[in-house]
Amino acid sequence: MNPDGNPVLEGAASFHPGQGFFNPGARPSRDLGVLLARRLAAERPPRILDLMAGCGVRSLRYALEGNVRCLWANDADPQRERDLQRNLASLQDHCLVRRTSWSAHRLLADCLLRNERFDLVDLDAFGSPHSLIPLALEAVALNGLLYLASTDGRGPTGHDRTAALRRFGASARTHPASWEQGLRLQIGLMARIAWSQGRGLEPVISFSDGRAFRTAVRLRRHPRSDEETFLGLVAVCHGCGDQQVQSMRHLRRWLPCTCASNGESALAVSGPLWIGPLQHQPTLDAMAAESASLPRSVCRASGALLERLRRDRGWPARSWPHALVARRIGTAPPTLQRLVERLRQEGFLAVANGVMPGQIRSDAPWPVILALAAEAVGGSVK
Ligand SMILES: C[S@@+](CC[C@H](N)C(=O)[O-])C[C@H]1O[C@@H](n2cnc3c(N)ncnc32)[C@H](O)[C@@H]1O
Ligand SMILES: [Zn+2]
Repeated sequence: MNPDGNPVLEGAASFHPGQGFFNPGARPSRDLGVLLARRLAAERPPRILDLMAGCGVRSLRYALEGNVRCLWANDADPQRERDLQRNLASLQDHCLVRRTSWSAHRLLADCLLRNERFDLVDLDAFGSPHSLIPLALEAVALNGLLYLASTDGRGPTGHDRTAALRRFGASARTHPASWEQGLRLQIGLMARIAWSQGRGLEPVISFSDGRAFRTAVRLRRHPRSDEETFLGLVAVCHGCGDQQVQSMRHLRRWLPCTCASNGESALAVSGPLWIGPLQHQPTLDAMAAESASLPRSVCRASGALLERLRRDRGWPARSWPHALVARRIGTAPPTLQRLVERLRQEGFLAVANGVMPGQIRSDAPWPVILALAAEAVGGSVK
């Protein structure tokens, strides 16, 4: 794009993307970032660190729409310096602004030495940002947020087991809720690092489009008493599709799968990963309420995404594609909503998965889900 062409408009920001990376399709992540900053501002105007700022669109939007106290925009690529200077020039009236072209490691190490912390650290990386997590968490103030993005999908979705072992120290097998598994591995890694630093961690919002895995987590002074029970393993039976979840704290033998002939089942186990909730619903409710009065900041796609996530707190960690239900019962199943209602009528927890469209989340045994689906349409389980 011509850096001197017409400026791009997004939210309250008008900016030149320059020759560097700007992805208009990632707008929902920026809209939700603005809403997160505004939640923090309800307590006090936040200090924000935009570690991989690109052309500076996030910084600009945080400052113009997020009621920010001070902002540090950084990108290691010196070519971005001109874009950042130009795009952020108008911010002097809004907040204190600092610009650098440092590597994120160097910047975070500098913050650690000077004991500088931020209420929101935005780490919008290409590829894997995992080596930065320890220093990034050190740079988050207590009760502040780390808003992390990774585009490293092959390892966590079970397509590169070596990469998953190296980056997460975890097993990653293929799972029907693959984007959710990627998020759970990412949160699990962040939780283990936060705990090793003596801190607690709580996921606030988690979402993915299969290319980027985005999570905002809140850093707590201490872990809650039961927090470690949320680190666990998930197993999928590649024979029948059943799923099991175990906390590492209460690890025991896997139950034999109902499909197992001669006692053997084809369980593919992933983890350790986060098996607790993916969303903090009170925060998402407040973000949704605020978004209604901010049509310029929150585009339609972002509003719809927030609505989906708000309805499903992301627990329990068992999720099946509607299409798999159809395959197993051998006929068109009831609609996902109808199946959710039937399971609830039977006293089970059931909800449309907010992270993975077209999937059902439930604590019901898989054979029960299939039997209720089949019964609703007069079919039978294959
Ligand atoms: C995904 S882009 C950022 C996009 C931007 N946040 C947005 O919303 O448009 C990632 C950016 O990280 C920068 N980058 C890559 N490695 C880095 C590092 N180690 N330290 C700091 N910046 C880095 C790249 O130059 C690139 O501009
Ligand atoms: Zn099975």
